Amino acid sequence: MTDQTSDWVSRSLKSVWHPCTQMQHHARDQDRVPLIPVSHGRGAWLYDHDGRRYLDAISSWWVNLFGHANPRINAALRDQLDMLEHAMLAGFTHEPVIRLSERLSALTGGVLGHAFYASDGASAVEIALKMSFHAWRNAGRSDKQEFVCLQGSYHGETIGALAVTDVALFKDAYGPLLRATQTVMSPDARQARDGETAQDVARRAAADVQRLFEQKADRIAAIIIEPLVQCAAGMAMHDPLYLQLVRELCDRHEVHLILDEIAVGCGRTGTFFACEQAGIWPDFVTLSKGISGGYLPLSLVLTKDQVYQAFYSADITRGFLHSHSYTGNPLACRAALATLDIFEEDNVLEANRARAASLGAAMAPLADHPRVKNLRQRGMILAFDAAGVDKTFSRRFFANATRNELLLRPIGSTVYLMPPYILDDEEIAGLAARTRAVFEQTLAEAS
Ligand SMILES: Cc1ncc(COP(=O)(O)O)c(C=O)c1O
Repeated sequence: MTDQTSDWVSRSLKSVWHPCTQMQHHARDQDRVPLIPVSHGRGAWLYDHDGRRYLDAISSWWVNLFGHANPRINAALRDQLDMLEHAMLAGFTHEPVIRLSERLSALTGGVLGHAFYASDGASAVEIALKMSFHAWRNAGRSDKQEFVCLQGSYHGETIGALAVTDVALFKDAYGPLLRATQTVMSPDARQARDGETAQDVARRAAADVQRLFEQKADRIAAIIIEPLVQCAAGMAMHDPLYLQLVRELCDRHEVHLILDEIAVGCGRTGTFFACEQAGIWPDFVTLSKGISGGYLPLSLVLTKDQVYQAFYSADITRGFLHSHSYTGNPLACRAALATLDIFEEDNVLEANRARAASLGAAMAPLADHPRVKNLRQRGMILAFDAAGVDKTFSRRFFANATRNELLLRPIGSTVYLMPPYILDDEEIAGLAARTRAVFEQTLAEAS
């Protein structure tokens, strides 16, 4: 490490409180986790101040779709900077937010034709929960106040979003602050009993929802689900049938369906919206992360006309009086428009089918590894579980990965790849080879 790099590290550790981090893990000698000051990014690679590079194999927390310093998104942002950096969205509107809303509506075939904006994913989740409750209230159903989430769900870390999150590590400390929620079985296909298929697990999980709805749907506003992949739970994947069954139950029992596509939207699972694979639309979709190409904080909730109309009134208190200062920021919307342009111009969903197949083929040899369980893939997400590893596995894997030009950060014992949609075959082969090498190295240390 050069003097310059170690200077950035020590200054960061003094003044920056890093997210999702036990800061002492950066300081202790034993199991020390590296802190890497990034100097710049190009394509799928991040570079540090010493000239070392790291393949961003998890898209910088699942946000980056078309690489760092993407020339097309950069050009759009430069153009937008000279026009309008920001204007408030109450009483004012602007071209980027209008065009983005129209294009997103079109991507849902007009079903989810109203877009409400925020900045981070958790804020979009808060909005969907509040909107659902308030829409029922405006319809004279103010008893519908409860929310249902799935085991292992993750919807963000603000107080409302954390209430519908089921990850003990993030939630337990704040238990006394959170609203009680109903938690139902996850459809995670890894739970298949002998002879059961992923669809059987989906049916079992849907039956759990049915039991709850039969008991108390009159008090439930919405169920919130990460469709197809519960990412933070460790890339827990389920069959699309689950979404169809829950959609039917929601219709039958008058409960809103919120699909949180913050991580799985924007082509990540193979279709632009994950729910397209189930052939259903929810009442609310949340989007963030990839929607701005990984450039700027932008999140939004798409909803249908029926929900919108529930708020449309001469009475101000029936309106949805929620706001964030940077709601619909023009720069972020422009980055999103440039991102959607790339999807169209490069036929990205089609190209990703080939890319995902190459990734799957390159990682397939791991299926026979004695310490690998549940090698699985959905589009541009590939994951496996490491068997017989201790609690330090993730940290040690991350540290070893950085020494092998990789940015990979396992979730517990789950190693996953979620790269930008720009890797070529050579980069995919390199990623697979290095991932396997880092895995072996991390296992060897432990034994
Ligand atoms: C499914 C899902 N919902 C919500 C969030 C929260 O988004 P943010 O971190 O932008 O608040 C995340 C973040 O990882 C997520 O994966």
